[in-house]
Amino acid sequence: MKINFKFRNHFLMLFLSVFLSACLTNVEEPIDNEEVDVCETVTYALSVKPIIDNSCTQCHSSNGGQFPNLDSYNALSSNASSVLLEVESRRMPIGSSLTTAEIAIIKCWVEKGALNN
Ligand code: HEC
Repeated sequence: MKINFKFRNHFLMLFLSVFLSACLTNVEEPIDNEEVDVCETVTYALSVKPIIDNSCTQCHSSNGGQFPNLDSYNALSSNASSVLLEVESRRMPIGSSLTTAEIAIIKCWVEKGALNN
């Protein structure tokens, strides 16, 4: 009886230490890293323009007729700060919303100087 009890305790300790070390090695990456990566790779042509074309230019273009025009680099960059304000507050696009990832891309691009890259 006594031996059996000891054995069970050892087994429990072994199980616990395996379990705890598994937890330690599975620590998740901080969420911030994702945004840092987005900021490192953001470009007008590959990251920002597709979002604007998809969600904004049906209204904000010479065809759409809504001021400000956002359908070229010059037009968008000269309105960069108000674009950021509108998408961060989710006032734009009217009738829907950008995803959090899309908003992060626009924010990074504007804060890095709204470059034509
Ligand atoms: C369905 C049409 C529509 C879509 C899509 C749309 N907008 Fe607008 N936008 C408007 C209208 C209408 C106004 C002016 C009235 C208002 O401010 O509510 C406006 C105003 C603005 C303004 C000027 C705000 C100010 O300072 O007066 C900005 C900047 C803007 N939109 C950015 C965007 C961006 C960026 C997107 C895409 C993410 C977008 N809009 C999508 C219709 C639209």
